[in-house]
Amino acid sequence: MVPLRHVLRAAPRLGGLWARPAARGLATLSEEHRMLKKTCGDFADSVLAPAAAGYDKSHEFPAGHVRQMGELGLMGIDSPEEYGGAGLDTLSYAVAMEEISRGCAATGTIFSAHNSLYLGPLKYNATPEQLQRHMQPFTGGQLVGCFALSEPGNGSDAGAASTTAVLKEDRWVLNGTKSWITNSWEASGVVVFATTDKAKKHRGISAFIVPMPTPGLSLGKKEDKLGIRATSTANLIFEDCEIPRENLLGKEGDGFKIAMRTLDNGRIGIAAQGVGIAQAAIDCAIDYAAKRNAFGSPILKMQCIQSKLADMELRTESARLLMYKASLLKDEGKNFTKMAAMSKLAASEAATFCAHQCIQILGGMGYVSDMPAERLYRDARITEIYEGTSEIQRLVIAGNLIKEYGL
Ligand code: CAA
Repeated sequence: MVPLRHVLRAAPRLGGLWARPAARGLATLSEEHRMLKKTCGDFADSVLAPAAAGYDKSHEFPAGHVRQMGELGLMGIDSPEEYGGAGLDTLSYAVAMEEISRGCAATGTIFSAHNSLYLGPLKYNATPEQLQRHMQPFTGGQLVGCFALSEPGNGSDAGAASTTAVLKEDRWVLNGTKSWITNSWEASGVVVFATTDKAKKHRGISAFIVPMPTPGLSLGKKEDKLGIRATSTANLIFEDCEIPRENLLGKEGDGFKIAMRTLDNGRIGIAAQGVGIAQAAIDCAIDYAAKRNAFGSPILKMQCIQSKLADMELRTESARLLMYKASLLKDEGKNFTKMAAMSKLAASEAATFCAHQCIQILGGMGYVSDMPAERLYRDARITEIYEGTSEIQRLVIAGNLIKEYGL
């Protein structure tokens, strides 16, 4: 497999496109983004999709997929090149995430939690020494990272963190439990949010980089989930877990903002995952409808099937455009919070809708695990929950909309 860096360097440069994101439009991807989409798409079709059902059944972490993504340069896709990343932009991350998730949504989740939730906050907030120590070893795919914000007592209300971090001489001592942590069982590092000053509420939350394993940090049981079953999800339990003072990420009290900015970016990734799942459902439905005959001809010719396909395509392409737009806004350095939330909301609804319609088109074959439709339906469901539920996305959209009106 040829690493992304080499594939992209072979492409005509179109006037230094990476450095001039404003030159791109929504109507079509740049040649470099199209090449990236093709590389990731081929990887999804040849490696990920054929194995996805097996990993879903066994609940096994797809270590081989992660290694291959590392070889391709995907495990540090938008991390700086000087720390071993591919140095690509947010749109590249989203394009890759769509294709990977189209092949295997669970692998997409691993890719996204690693890149956007672990490496993301480091990229924007870590010191050069922290990047050297906690980013560089992770960008080649040998090590994966995770992100710990939610707790058993707070999910949507991220500012109510009860995990504490107390400075004792030159060590931070962490106590508390974090829940729903993607990649937790395989991770070698985690960005954790903990309260350093309870009186300041969300302004008293700080972010920390914790290497794993570390004495005082243990893992809870692996959750038995509805979908994305090849990923590990578990609690992280901190009991007098000591880390060096220099593992504070950003400034003390910056944690809530770091988490919110990380999630803005992460939501573009979940939007891309939703679009990938929706696309996989369309591909599956069309393939089946072209081969399945009823009343003397392929059901693809039936008006009721075409009507479903039209609705599926409309929702998927609309969500894809929102996802591209959110990525472009971020790459242009503009505020993208509302667009990221809109793209995630639209894409997660598209994914659930398309998987539902795919099952309907396949009939009985959609309901059994011989075909991917029922797995897509189960995998789609999480996109409406993690990195902010659909209800939270509506809150973020409305809040930002009202702000735009100066109210
Ligand atoms: N970027 C930067 N700053 C932001 C921000 C953003 N997007 N959103 C809010 N802020 C800032 C505000 O400006 C405000 O700053 P000041 O203190 O200076 O005034 C501060 O944060 C508080 O803002 P709000 O009053 O709006 O915050 P809130 O407490 O009402 O919460 C919320 C807002 C949007 C509901 C937020 O709590 C939220 O996003 N909740 C959902 C959390 C979530 O997505 N959890 C998923 C966990 S990750 C995961 O899924 C695990 C996994 O492994 C996949």
